[in-house]
Amino acid sequence: MSLRSNDRQWGTVAKFFHWIIALAILGNGTFGLLMDLAHSPMQKINWLALHKSIGLTVLALVLLRVLWRWGDGRPREEPAPRWQQWAARLTHGVLYVLIVALPLSGWWFNSVSGKPLQWFKLFNLPALAEKNDALRDLVRDVHEYLFWFLLLVLVAHVGAALKHHVFDNDNVLRRMLPFGRLRNHTTPQGES
Ligand code: HEM
Ligand code: HEM
Repeated sequence: MSLRSNDRQWGTVAKFFHWIIALAILGNGTFGLLMDLAHSPMQKINWLALHKSIGLTVLALVLLRVLWRWGDGRPREEPAPRWQQWAARLTHGVLYVLIVALPLSGWWFNSVSGKPLQWFKLFNLPALAEKNDALRDLVRDVHEYLFWFLLLVLVAHVGAALKHHVFDNDNVLRRMLPFGRLRNHTTPQGES
């Protein structure tokens, strides 16, 4: 396994970013939705602080991922109808936008609520905007609905990955899995 991606495989670093960000974003979104299960206001404050710190970590990981992807490239696309290749590019583009916008909207919500922001009690971060009661509910909805939208796009993303794996029997999912072993008989792009 190599750190960098090549023509056939995603590299270890790209796989690491993909799966750690997927887990963290889904886990943190679920955590956000379950916040009301807290037994006391103090517990809710602690949970929120954790939610925000994990979210900020996701934002930092996404920025590192984008930088890495820029210099790393990607494996060759598996043969597929042109519309499917465009659909995949569009879905990936939308997912990248969402994983940046989700934590940023949380940070924005925290700012218009006039709340302080710390990263794991280690250091403070500045507000992105002034406190604004009129915007508060709207920005909270933006933050929440971005997560629901991510889940919707994810249905298509995971559905496509499974379709490649089960029906096309190609390497699209295998080459993104942490210990995925490639099948040998892939046809170069353009041939059938
Ligand atoms: C929140 C969860 C997820 C997010 C945000 C996400 C995002 C992305 C993005 C942006 C890419 C494009 C990579 C690039 O071109 O740089 C990608 C690739 C990929 N994802 Fe996900 N993903 C998620 C979950 C999943 C899950 C659950 C699966 C599997 C069932 C999956 C399977 C794949 C595969 C197979 C590829 C590679 C596609 C290819 O080689 O063309 N993803 N993902
Ligand atoms: C991985 C990134 C993140 C995801 C997926 C996520 C998702 C969510 C979700 C689904 C909720 C529940 C919304 C509701 O029920 O109203 C929520 C709540 C919240 N999030 Fe995030 N969030 C993320 C990052 C952040 C960040 C970085 C911050 C702040 C810096 C933040 C601040 C908040 C706050 C303050 C709430 C509570 C809203 C309320 O008062 O009901 N989130 N988040």
